[in-house]
Amino acid sequence: MSEVKKVMIPDLSAMKKERRKITMITAYSYPQALIVDEAGIDIILVGDSLGMVELGYRDTVPVTMEEMLGHTRAVMRGVKRAHVVGDMPFMSYNISREQAVTNAGILYKDGGADSVKLEGGQDMAPVISAIVKAGIPVFGHIGLTPQTANILGGFKVQGKSLDQARKVIDDAIAVQEAGAFAIVLEAIPRQLAALITEKLDIPTIGIGGGLDCDGQVLVLHDMVGLFRRFTPKFVKVYADVYSIQLDAVKKYIGEVQSKAFPSDDHTFTMKEDAVAELRKSLGM
Ligand code: KIV
Repeated sequence: MSEVKKVMIPDLSAMKKERRKITMITAYSYPQALIVDEAGIDIILVGDSLGMVELGYRDTVPVTMEEMLGHTRAVMRGVKRAHVVGDMPFMSYNISREQAVTNAGILYKDGGADSVKLEGGQDMAPVISAIVKAGIPVFGHIGLTPQTANILGGFKVQGKSLDQARKVIDDAIAVQEAGAFAIVLEAIPRQLAALITEKLDIPTIGIGGGLDCDGQVLVLHDMVGLFRRFTPKFVKVYADVYSIQLDAVKKYIGEVQSKAFPSDDHTFTMKEDAVAELRKSLGM
């Protein structure tokens, strides 16, 4: 069997140069990692979106380092090819550069992630720079930053006015100059994402950033129909896995109740004379 070649950071840079689209998706568990890696995805994000879609929190704010570490390790056990990004949860990098480098080190060294992602533009540039100087590759994330959505006025498209757009551009440049190797552009107008993509040397990965980004990312649970609390405009739902699982479990309940399951196909047996001997010895 031929050895699988891991996607490396220079491969992603080459894809931008050659205008080959980069594919990225979230995964949070071993089976999800097996599926998306076998499908041929370039980048897997162990996103803090797991707080909402896997752990049932109202948003990503409560997610802890312990949770991110456990899920990152599970994903790493299922991946052969994709580059894996470990997301830094809220307040794991916001206190000091030292705290940020320590926690990035935990996801990178103990979790086994190939890089870490954090949210923020100009304000976070010194933090990005400190993590990169420590030897850990950083993925940026600007535009709509869910961890600080309250400051942005909620889950809203960013950069629509000229002033806001200039700020998003300055954020993108600051993140690149700080040493990030790629950047997520979330919920910004397509034209703005196109300008940033042209201006930056590093790959831009859009989620609600339109077709001109160097690549696209979606949350797995959104695109397979497993998370139904709300569906942002930028999500395309490719399957209804919720209904498939619901139907399967309903069918199972029905078959247990009607004694259709387990049938002989799912049952072990022993010789009848041994059963007779057991009955006798039990006085039955
Ligand atoms: O946590 C996440 O899934 C993300 C994506 C929305 C990019 O940050």
